[in-house]
Amino acid sequence: MIDLAKEFRKIFNHANHKIQTFFAPGRINLIGEHTDYNGGHVFPAAISFGTYAVGKKRNDSKLRFYSMNFPEIGIIECDLNDLAFSEKHNWANYPKGMIKYVLDAGYSIRNGADILFYGDIPNGAGLSSSASIEMVTGVLLENLFQLKIDRIDMVRIGQKVENHYLGVNSGIMDQFAIGMGKKDNAILLDCQSLAYDYAPIKLDHHAIMIINTNKQRTLAGSKYNERRQECEKALADLQTELPIKSLGELTADTFHQYEQLIENPIHRKRAKHAITENERTLNALHALRNGNLEEFGALMNASHRSLRDDYEVTGPELDTIAEAAWRQEGVIGARMTGAGFGGCAIAIVENDKKDAFQQYVNQTYQAKFGYEPTFYTAAISDGAKTAKEQ
Ligand code: GLA
Repeated sequence: MIDLAKEFRKIFNHANHKIQTFFAPGRINLIGEHTDYNGGHVFPAAISFGTYAVGKKRNDSKLRFYSMNFPEIGIIECDLNDLAFSEKHNWANYPKGMIKYVLDAGYSIRNGADILFYGDIPNGAGLSSSASIEMVTGVLLENLFQLKIDRIDMVRIGQKVENHYLGVNSGIMDQFAIGMGKKDNAILLDCQSLAYDYAPIKLDHHAIMIINTNKQRTLAGSKYNERRQECEKALADLQTELPIKSLGELTADTFHQYEQLIENPIHRKRAKHAITENERTLNALHALRNGNLEEFGALMNASHRSLRDDYEVTGPELDTIAEAAWRQEGVIGARMTGAGFGGCAIAIVENDKKDAFQQYVNQTYQAKFGYEPTFYTAAISDGAKTAKEQ
């Protein structure tokens, strides 16, 4: 592990005093995709990849940010009194946005700070590097300025940064998983009420593999917002006869009775995904609690098919990986994870079949796209926290 305190002292020219390191993970989602902003359930878990931060309060109001992932950009500087989004501040808009909304929420930050970040989440992989930097900024601010921010408020502040500062209309899943994660547990979250429950992930002789398509997620933001709007339109049509606030309130059976209210067939398909996915998520938790891993895997596969055919967010890269995984012995289930449009898939694979799995998926993918995917074994870890003192 890189000595962040040492790097921090070097970059910002600080003396040798004790400094704390903070950490916020990335996340995978086991099932429950594109359900969060539809008032449904999600089932994510924090992973061991994440973002580290170290910082020190300043005597003036300057904010100076440095990322070891973008050394060519150097130190990005702004002021506590001007926290408006600025194109030229590049990646530093994430911590800037957090500081702005923590202040707006009424917490007191009277001094500037020097902050250094380092992240080991693969870039653009859809494992929530953005929510990770938001949450690590949150826990660092708590410590530097002696704030006590209720964790769920911090999660909401992170989502606000995405929605209002960066213009991505995302739901609450990523910040929640990262803020509230627990080692060896996934979180069942009702995104309407924010009621949640931890579920131990005991997979016996299996591992969760993450497979990165290594495809750039260029259109992800705009397509994501488009899906969200399509769901809103479907909901509005259903509301002409049904007294519901979100798609998550409907069972698949009720949906089938009323689906013709949705005029546009594309919007109808989007709603069908959101509603059936919500049911799959609840059924998956049930299967897991009953130790029925086969059923859990079958629901993961059905989730991918629904995201491919009804929600249309998978694309050839993720489909190739999931479909190759389904053909492979020792695979319990496989699906895309996160927003889609590239990014990562996950698969539950028998431990002693991992090598064969990797080899087959790799070969199939490379033959089709001419480059390799990357494989990781996921370790389910704690949410944002103090990492250590150096
Ligand atoms: C992204 C968003 C989440 C969620 C997923 C899809 O990760 O940030 O809020 O909508 O996509 O499930």
